[in-house]
Order: sequence, then structure tokens, then C-alpha cells
Amino acid sequence: MYAAFRSIGSYIPENILTNHDLEKMVDTSDEWIVKRTGIKERRIANKDEVTSDLGYKAALQAIERSDISVDEIDMVVCATLSPDYLTMPSTAAMISQKLGIKNVMAFDISAACTGFVYLMSLAKSFVESGAKKNILIVGAEKISSIIDYEDRSTCILFGDGAGAAIIGQTEDKNEAIIDVLASANGNFGELLITPGGGSKNPIREDNVKDKLQYMKMAGNEVFKVAVKTLTNDVIEILAKNKIDASEVDMFIPHQANYRIVEAVRSKLNFPIEKTALTVAKYGNTSSASIPMAMNDMYESGRVKHGDLMLLDAFGGGFTWGSALVRFAGKNFTK
Ligand code: ACO
Repeated sequence: MYAAFRSIGSYIPENILTNHDLEKMVDTSDEWIVKRTGIKERRIANKDEVTSDLGYKAALQAIERSDISVDEIDMVVCATLSPDYLTMPSTAAMISQKLGIKNVMAFDISAACTGFVYLMSLAKSFVESGAKKNILIVGAEKISSIIDYEDRSTCILFGDGAGAAIIGQTEDKNEAIIDVLASANGNFGELLITPGGGSKNPIREDNVKDKLQYMKMAGNEVFKVAVKTLTNDVIEILAKNKIDASEVDMFIPHQANYRIVEAVRSKLNFPIEKTALTVAKYGNTSSASIPMAMNDMYESGRVKHGDLMLLDAFGGGFTWGSALVRFAGKNFTK
């Protein structure tokens, strides 16, 4: 039995935060942000919307586009760095509750921007072992809830959103998720970190005053490792599976920064038309960035049944990973 990528869906919050809006909030400019990151705007969830609401809406779309009903889902996993609650209940449990799914395993994983690739690895193993048949995987983020909108080094980069997919079973090798590679190295942990709220710096008045509940990033140092790692990931997974870059129909890298995507794309000679680029309109949505980008490609007809997708991610931890995946869902129709 193989694991097949059966459907993709996303949810994009309505509110738009433009670079010009940010100019009024911190010492920055539209010109600087576009030049250094390629980002023009990002979406921000409503005050009363929580991460599981975004994940739930993306999941509804993914389920509707698959051949299965909600009742057939036997596992729900969510990747997020901005969960509804810090410790419990999990965001996956909240998504399950909103979908009316009961009595199936539901849990979150923490792998920052690599979350969706980690989910692919998990879902592939559970399906291939025969333990589960139809797994809902969700990357959902209300990152605006952990951003300091007085810190120009982070607030210009991130946005909210969610993406979801159904991973099912197949006996047809041509439909299978081919391979997933994923790794982590905690030595780089402090370069990209939300220091407060956990057991190290619990929620206390002094820690909150020091703004430890917000994400901090040593952007320039992260940038250099990101480019190198994202490039090596692709070289490794293609070589391991004896697949040439020209056989890839759609390269879907994590959407952190246009310059990072462009550096990796040009090093590996992927044509622009075969590279997903959505960072200009959504910013960095962490674990949701790859499925949101994939959904855009799907809805524009650039990802079709049988196409070979190459996913490539990098994030806090550091974590990183890549996946070679055949799109085994139906072609998009309006
Ligand atoms: N507006 C104007 N100026 C700014 C801003 C801003 N928003 N932010 C920083 N600057 C200034 C700095 O203070 C610095 O000024 P100085 O030269 O006088 O000291 C100058 O601009 C250059 O700053 P750098 O940090 O060197 O700028 P860089 O070109 O590296 O761009 C950026 C910064 C966009 C953050 C980039 O480093 C980046 O994209 N890093 C990687 C992000 C990433 O991939 N993260 C991983 C995934 S995210 C996750 O897992 C959650």
C-alpha cells in the first residue's frame, strides 16, 4: 500500500495588511520591504478568528475536493507555531471538533515552517504501514498573535492563513508520495525563537513586560543557512530518487522571502513558470506557506493530476525537509 496526495485546500483571511499600512506602524518603507523580501502584503485573521478556525476552513475545502467524507478520516494532524492554546487542547483536536470528527487520533506537531513537510512524512508512514487510511493534515497559523508590531525585523515578514490536504491509500505506485526527507538541528534554536510562554520563561508579568511571548529572529544569519539548506535538500532528494530536476512539474518552496526562493531556484535551474511564488501577497505563513502556495497553483491549473511536485522547507529549530509528491487528486474545476 502506498500513500497518495488526494486533495489540497486553503483558507486566506480577508483582511489585508499592506507595506504602506506597516509604514505607519514601524520605521520601514514599502521600497525596503519589496527590495529585501518581495512581500507587498499579507493577510491578518480577525480578532475573533483563531488558528483552528483557519485550519477548519482549509480542511473543509480539502475534504470537499477529495473522494472521501468526513466520517472516513481516521487521523488529524496539525502543524502550527501559533496554536489556539499553548499546551492543550491541541489545535488538531479543535479542528476535529469543528468538523464533527470524534474518536480519532488528533495531535499537533511543532516544526515551524517545515511543519507541512513533517506532516507529509508522518502521514506517509502511517498510511504505508496500514495503520491509517485517510489522514487530514493541516498547516494553520495565526502568526499575528505572536508578532510584536513594534519590531520591524519580524512584523513585515509574516501573515496568517491555512492549508490542508487529504493523504489516502493507493495500490498504484504512479500515484504515490515518492519520498520525504526531514531533519532538525537544535544548535541553531536561538536564531529563530519565541522565548516566552513555555517552561523556560513562563507567562509572568516580568517576561511579558520583556515581550518574550513574541517571535525573535536573527534574520541575516537565518537567511544564509536557509539558502544553503534549501538548495542541498533538493539536490539530496533528487539524487536519492534518481530523478532529474527537469522531470519536476512544480517546485513549491517555503515562501519566506523572494530572494531566498530566487537564489534556490536559479541555483537548481528550475524555470520560473514551474516555481510557486506567492510570498508577495501572503508573506511568510510558516507551516501554511507550502499548502497555500500549492493551492494557488492548483486553482490556477498549474498543478494537475499526475504532476510531480517538489516541496522544500526550512524553519525554526532549525528544521528542514523536502518531499517528492505526485498530485493524485482531481483536476481543479470551479
Ligand atoms: N525596514 C527598514 N529597515 C530595516 C528593516 C525594515 N523592516 N528591518 C531591518 N532593517 C535594517 C536593519 O536595521 C539593517 O540596518 P543597518 O545596516 O543600519 O544595521 C539593514 O536594514 C539590513 O538588515 P539585515 O537584517 O541585514 O537585512 P537582510 O537583507 O538580511 O533582510 C530579512 C532581512 C528580510 C529578515 C532577511 O534576512 C530574511 O528573509 N531572513 C530569513 C527569514 C527566513 O527564512 N526565516 C525562516 C523561516 S521562518 C520560520 O521558521 C518561522
